[in-house]
Amino acid sequence: MIGVFDSGYGGLTVFKPLTKKFPRYNFIYFGDNARAPYGSRSQEEIYKYTREAVDWLFREGCELIILACNTASAQALQKIQQEYLIKNYSERRVLGVLIPVAEEIAKTADGKIGILATEATVSSGAYLREIKKFKSDAEIIQIAAPTLVPLIETDMIYHNSMKLALRKYLESFKKTGIKNIILGCTHYPLIKDLIQAEMPGAKIFDSPSVIPASLENYLTRHPEIEKRLGKNGQRRFVTTGDQEKFSKFAAKIMNVPVGVEKALPFLFLKKFESARMNGLD
Ligand code: DGL
Repeated sequence: MIGVFDSGYGGLTVFKPLTKKFPRYNFIYFGDNARAPYGSRSQEEIYKYTREAVDWLFREGCELIILACNTASAQALQKIQQEYLIKNYSERRVLGVLIPVAEEIAKTADGKIGILATEATVSSGAYLREIKKFKSDAEIIQIAAPTLVPLIETDMIYHNSMKLALRKYLESFKKTGIKNIILGCTHYPLIKDLIQAEMPGAKIFDSPSVIPASLENYLTRHPEIEKRLGKNGQRRFVTTGDQEKFSKFAAKIMNVPVGVEKALPFLFLKKFESARMNGLD
């Protein structure tokens, strides 16, 4: 099974094209809505919450997990790969969305690059680092856009506040002649048209258009992982938050009714850890 993790709903923008590209593969989507948003949290919190979600997904049988959340990819992925996985699940894999998008923009972009993302993704500098690995002379500007996620989640996409927020955030991109924009947050593909309307000449890069092909490439290079993935076309949706709200939001993005399970891995893990410490495991 392939797990797709996000802090909340936004990762569905990546889940949808992934499930379309790989219809036979079993997928589970996990949204930590109870603790979202992650974008204004500390690195320690983002790491802890992401690790708990990853742990839960592995227990559910995932062989491969994609962190659809840019904030988790920026602030937690490296430590998960280099410490947690090696110690606990050395045969399984966790991948992020940031490196494939950075690679794509570095290879194809002509001109200055603007990154729009959460505060935590911007402060990590991860996109900058990854783009510069492929294109060391890239001129990049980053903007943290903390009000966009709440506006999208409260159905304010076509409200005047969204227009004003976008104008404010994109002002420095316009002034500095940005020609390429990374939508460095799961939710922004939902307002791609509005961003494009504000900056008609700019080329937009985002996870939904890059990650499916990048996963295909990964699976071709890693047949040992690919052959362990279940292929019965299963789809599961799990949230730590309100099931009904999640179901409504997910149905809108997926264009089909979505049944949602509830899980609280952090509570389960706490019990599990204290049982282990008390010798009950
Ligand atoms: N999923 C987050 C991201 O892609 C956005 C929402 C949040 O801040 O949790 O960065």
